[in-house]
Amino acid sequence: MVENAKKLIVFNWKMAPNSTKEARRLLGAIIDSKFSILNSEIVVVLPFVYLPFFANFCGLKRESTRINKKEKRLSLKLGSQDVFWEKQGAFTGEISTIMLKNLGVEYVLIGHSERRKYLNETDEVINKKVLAGLEAGLKVILCVGEPEMELRIKNKGLKKTKNYIKKQLEKDLKNILLNYSKSRILNSRLAIVYEPVWAISANNTGKTCKPEDALEIIKFIKKTLNSKFSILNFRVLYGGSIDSKNIGDFLKYPEIDGVLIGGASLKIKEVEKILK
Ligand code: PGA
Repeated sequence: MVENAKKLIVFNWKMAPNSTKEARRLLGAIIDSKFSILNSEIVVVLPFVYLPFFANFCGLKRESTRINKKEKRLSLKLGSQDVFWEKQGAFTGEISTIMLKNLGVEYVLIGHSERRKYLNETDEVINKKVLAGLEAGLKVILCVGEPEMELRIKNKGLKKTKNYIKKQLEKDLKNILLNYSKSRILNSRLAIVYEPVWAISANNTGKTCKPEDALEIIKFIKKTLNSKFSILNFRVLYGGSIDSKNIGDFLKYPEIDGVLIGGASLKIKEVEKILK
């Protein structure tokens, strides 16, 4: 069950662009586009170095003047691509939940497959980050997804994929009930992104996930969160090679609560078309 009917559109810039000037152009394209603040919630997940700039640019501190463009700026949400689980101390190179909150960051992306692969982030580490993020009051976007494409056997569901995702959820959300079972606050602060690793554009496999398959897995994730974790109000998104041409094929399903967009989020023309 999802109480929030707004679709969540997450732009993940990954390690790009190279300069604040380019970052400003990209953000400008989002604000100037025709997106409606009523039917979607837009989150831009940025490299740490651009977070303060974005907070300023979007006027995260609300002012009294009501200008349409300003309202749009205010409705854009700020997200980081990672966070550390300890609150403070001798952890060189890390960024805490408190630092993010103080900047006006609302969302944090955790467990992206690129961090699992290049930084060897384990499910144990991801679990610590999920719990720390939620405890601090951040909204957590947790990425899960299988590494290899499962071939569909006639009349059989995506069994292997479901098993893989279930195990990931069990490990990444471990103890979530212990800490938050009765908390409705938790429920609306968790989003899961189903990102089949083989369908992410940077992996250059040439394969894309069929919207029907994404739907099947997303329904499975919802069922698992409901039955196994008793989490009721959350969102499940799809990510992997989303662009202006295929976004509608995924978002047309009411069960798909949004999308996470990587490569296409760095192309101004694509961003404009996507937001239309
Ligand atoms: P993609 O990336 O849209 O370029 O496939 C998605 C992601 O990895 O976040």
